[in-house]
This record gives sequence, structure tokens and C-alpha cells, in this order.
Amino acid sequence: MTANNQKPFRLIDPNTDKSTDLPVMEGSIGPKVLDIRKLYGETGYFTYDPGFTSTGSCESKITYIDGDEGVLLHRGYPIEDLAEHCDFLEVAYLLMNGELPNKDEKAKFEHDITYHTMVHEQMAHFFRGFRRDAHPMAILCGVVGAMSAFYHDSTDIEDPRQRMIASYRLIAKMPTIAAMAYKYSVGQPFMYPQNKLTYAQNFLQMTFGVPAEPYVDNPVLSKAMDKIFILHADHEQNASTSTVRLAGSSGANPFACIAAGIASLWGPSHGGANEAVLKMLGEIGDKKNIPEFVKRAKDKNDPFRLMGFGHRVYKNYDPRAKVMQETCREVLSELGIKDDPLLDIAMELEKIALEDEYFIEKKLYPNVDFYSGIILKAMGFPTSMFTVLFAVARTTGWVAQWKEMIEDPVQKIGRPRQLYTGSGPRDYVPLNKR
Ligand code: CMC
Repeated sequence: MTANNQKPFRLIDPNTDKSTDLPVMEGSIGPKVLDIRKLYGETGYFTYDPGFTSTGSCESKITYIDGDEGVLLHRGYPIEDLAEHCDFLEVAYLLMNGELPNKDEKAKFEHDITYHTMVHEQMAHFFRGFRRDAHPMAILCGVVGAMSAFYHDSTDIEDPRQRMIASYRLIAKMPTIAAMAYKYSVGQPFMYPQNKLTYAQNFLQMTFGVPAEPYVDNPVLSKAMDKIFILHADHEQNASTSTVRLAGSSGANPFACIAAGIASLWGPSHGGANEAVLKMLGEIGDKKNIPEFVKRAKDKNDPFRLMGFGHRVYKNYDPRAKVMQETCREVLSELGIKDDPLLDIAMELEKIALEDEYFIEKKLYPNVDFYSGIILKAMGFPTSMFTVLFAVARTTGWVAQWKEMIEDPVQKIGRPRQLYTGSGPRDYVPLNKR
């Protein structure tokens, strides 16, 4: 916990005039935090914060976001710098260990991850239980959860070595499992990882390679894949990360916790947005229809929202979206896609929305998912795989946050309370009298 010289925050109950001092905690940067842990005991009040808009659920040293300024730092490093200078495994090392690796540490980490990329051969049979048309996120949830049945020797969360092995296994095997989910859906044979390839190259090889011919890497595409992984690696206490922490707070094994995170990521308000963006662009279909969709997004009586716009924390341009936009251009140019109708619609939509009073007033800017779908589609991924790729990348963040939580001495089981608005106590009515 951070020591500070802050004066306590004084609350006065107007009913009793009793005052309660809440300690004020100060992080290294960011807003000050009221420590309300003793609030209920001292005042008899709970706090009410559905969606946790003002609640810090933990202390963390991993990621910092300044939503008003559009800043995202991992261990202090701006995301733009990491995306430009690092590869994904360096960022994964940074998230997990707090520092960028030196040359030897980098080589060792790459080696350790690479040599954990193969999955238990029995897992291939496990896939066969799924329908061929199953959503790959459904397969991912199931198979990652099942890892606890395959890797018993790394489920003891009290043992730091087992924690580390589980973390490595999750980061290393996630692309293999994700690619297997894809191969299963298209009826092609599973591809084994190749140790000479980088993390991103390997994933592309396992996804798009076939045993009938050697896989040829396109460096522009594998670099773009690596960058997409970096941009999705971690994002503070978002829904899926909080899910991983909450699941882990009960002492559940890491594979089960990450499976819970994958389930949470799947929703269209979170990681499922990249898939939803592409569906929306397809529905818009033509630039001339954009005003109609913008009008619907602004209509309170219409549940439609512009997917890829808005963010709980960013009230400015999502810094990841800027890098993603550049990567999008690089990929389309490499693939010789000059006039992509969906990209045209996306660019026009972005322009119109950024000039619209409603979006300006509500500070709704494009988020990371707005451009990623266009890149992934151009690279040949079906839309159903978009959120799977997000999950592959976010696994490093989940694992780093899970590990931080387990090692936090003040950690306890997460157990929120509620504002109960149901019936008070009442007498049981026998069936024949109801
Ligand atoms: N289109 C139209 N109106 C919107 C949108 C949107 N995309 N997003 C928010 N609003 C409006 C919303 O109707 C509300 O208006 P009012 O104040 O009049 O009721 C206001 O803006 C604030 O929205 P909110 O729902 O209270 O904000 P939130 O912080 O709970 O939701 C969000 C954040 C990301 C769920 C939301 O902006 C959204 O649904 N966006 C579309 C889905 C999306 O792109 N999600 C990806 C997020 S980034 C990647 C990730 O986290 O995984």
C-alpha cells in the first residue's frame, strides 16, 4: 500500500452528525483513492457503484491509463513506443516482470515460451467433441478451461514455480489452441508450432499454413500481427481482467481463471466489438447510408450503437487506435488492397462521427477495435476469429495481473455487497394456498 501525507477524507452522516475519516491513498500517478475498507464497519453503509465507474478494485503496478489525455502506459512505457520498438514477447516479459528484458533475458524468455507452444497430443481429440460450426470463442473457453485437466503439475497456486510454468504455458499455448480452433472450423489438419518462428509468425503459420507445402512468412503481415498483439496485451482492470482476478481471488487454478476471462472478453461491449464493427460496416454497406446509422446511434429509443466507438476510460482518442490505423494502411498497401469498401465506410464514418455534436459532447472516439477488424479481414481471418486473436494477446495481461494478485499480501477473496431491493421477510405460503 502506498504511504502518503494526505489528510483523511471526512464524511459526515447528516442523520447522526457522526463523522468518519476515510484514509486517502495516493498512487504514483492518477487520481487519489479513498480507502473505504472500514466504511461498513464504522458507518453501517455500503457504497453503490454498478459497473465500478469510481471503484479501484486493487493496487497494481502494471498498466496506467489517463483516459482524458488518451495515454496508455505499460510499466511506465507509452504504448506507442512499445508498439514501435518492441516485439510482443518483450512486452509480455515487461508486463510479467516489471522491466524490459536485457539481451540474455529476452533470449531465455523467447526460448522458454517457444518450447511450451506444443499442446498435449490428447487435446487434438478433445477438439473433435465440438461441432465444426462452433464459434471459436466457445472452443477457446472450453479448451483453455480444460488445460487444468491436462496440466496438473502447474495448478498449485501456492507454488511460485508452478505459477510461473502455468503462466508460460498459457502464453505459449494460446496461439496454438486459437489456430487449432480455426483449423477445426475449416476442416484442415492441425499444424504444429515451429520453433524457428517468432510468436506472431508461428501463429500465422499454424493458422494459414498447410502440411502440403512450406509456409512462407510475409514480414509485413507478421509484423502487423505482432503489433496487434502488443496493442491488445493489457488494459488495466477491464471486464475480462477483473473477471480473471475475481475468479483467481477464490484460489481457482490459473487455467480456469483465464477461461473465465475469455468468457468475459467475448461480449460485444468488450473484445467482441472487433467482430461487431465489421458486421456493422457490412450492414451500413455504402457511404450514403452512414447518416442513417449515425442517426440511429444517437436515438435514445434505438439500442443501436456505433461499434468501435466510445470507451469507459478513454474520453479522447484511444492511443491504440492511432497505431492500429497506421498498421491498417501498411497491411492494405502490402496486400495491394487499394479500394476496400469497408475501409472507405470506416474512414467516412470516423470523419462524420468525429464532427458530430453528439459524439463530441459525449467524448466518443474510435477505440482499438475500430480498425483491427479491417486489418484482420484483409489478412484472411474470418470475423469469428477476431475476438480469439484479442484473447491470445490479452492472455499476457491476464496472466501478469493474476500473478500480481496472487502475490499481493492484502489480497482476499473478491466479494462485493449489494443494494437489496427485493422483498422483506415474509411468511411461507403452502402450495395449495398460492
Ligand atoms: N454509440 C452511440 N452512443 C454511445 C456509444 C456508441 N458506441 N458509446 C456510448 N454512447 C453513449 C451512451 O448512449 C451514453 O449516452 P447517455 O449519457 O445519453 O446515456 C453515453 O454515450 C455514455 O455511454 P455509457 O454506455 O454510459 O458508457 P460506458 O462507459 O458504460 O460504455 C462502452 C463504454 C465501450 C461499452 C460503450 O462506449 C460502447 O458500447 N461502445 C461500443 C462497443 C465497443 O466499441 N466496445 C469496445 C470497447 S474498447 C475494447 C475493449 O474494451 O474490449
